Amino acid sequence: MKGILLAGGSGSRLYPLTMTISKQLLPVYDKPMIYYPLSTLMLFGIRDILIISTPNDTPNIEKLFGNGHIFGLNIEYCVQNEPRGIPEAFILGADFIGNDDVCLILGDNIFYMGQQLNKFREDVDKYAGQKATIFAQKVQDPQRFGVVEFDENHRVLSIEEKPANPKSDYASVGLYFYPPDVVQKARSLKPSARGELEITDLNNLYLQEKMLNVVVMPRGVAWLDAGTPDSLLDAGQFVQIIEKRQGLKISCIEEIAYRRGFMNDEQMQQYINSLKDGYYKKYLQKIYEEYHETKYTTAV
Ligand code: TTP
Repeated sequence: MKGILLAGGSGSRLYPLTMTISKQLLPVYDKPMIYYPLSTLMLFGIRDILIISTPNDTPNIEKLFGNGHIFGLNIEYCVQNEPRGIPEAFILGADFIGNDDVCLILGDNIFYMGQQLNKFREDVDKYAGQKATIFAQKVQDPQRFGVVEFDENHRVLSIEEKPANPKSDYASVGLYFYPPDVVQKARSLKPSARGELEITDLNNLYLQEKMLNVVVMPRGVAWLDAGTPDSLLDAGQFVQIIEKRQGLKISCIEEIAYRRGFMNDEQMQQYINSLKDGYYKKYLQKIYEEYHETKYTTAV
């Protein structure tokens, strides 16, 4: 399974914050936003990752992660010259995807899944290589999203992009899993009235072929998108509250890489030694000592 992290866009709802810097590099409490979607890919066990961003921001993101080898990942980069829509990720990433399944995550989507992650991994694995799997969650303002309508047997009837009169309260979230034919399907899409390729149109192609699996994320899972000033602040506060309470970080990519075995003891210790002194280094040192000595495991 390959992973694509789509981290371009214009970020117009966050102007002037995003006049000179990508939305995905803005802080969500104690880390750049992009750490959160990257960590979600890692938690799904995905280690071959393509990051797509704007001509201006791609070099800065590359400065953050390089080729990813230090975290046990293979990270490649690709520039999207204009925000021509989410499915363009599959056209730009065609060579990277090859004949593999691919997971796409949006760069401003933050998930806090806890133990549900294991169930979601099973949901995806069940249809690997055959069907697309997308996720939906109940929201208060469905008209802002792709809205999934279900029948009484939880079968999907329709998906509509930003409908004025939503047929349900279930929004499609920014995490999608597709078989390799997604490239060909993305290439067949036509731009919508707003001039973009639409992810809802792509999902509807799978729905028409009865090849779409929609999994509902239950209320215990937090899904935040950090694309507006309020949601950015809310996301930061959410992370702050949980981290302060538990003393454990959300989406600390080094911790995930270490606990998942992407980095071994020696690599982790070398990495920690290379960091400047500060709270992040102290945190990683503490995690290293606890995990190294006791193999004590908790959800990350
Ligand atoms: P959006 O939030 O829909 O768009 P945006 O980031 O440009 O913000 P705004 O609406 O405020 O102008 O995008 C969702 C995510 O997908 C976000 O992380 C940016 C990314 N994206 C791209 O990288 N390329 C694209 O062509 C589009 C449409 C989005």
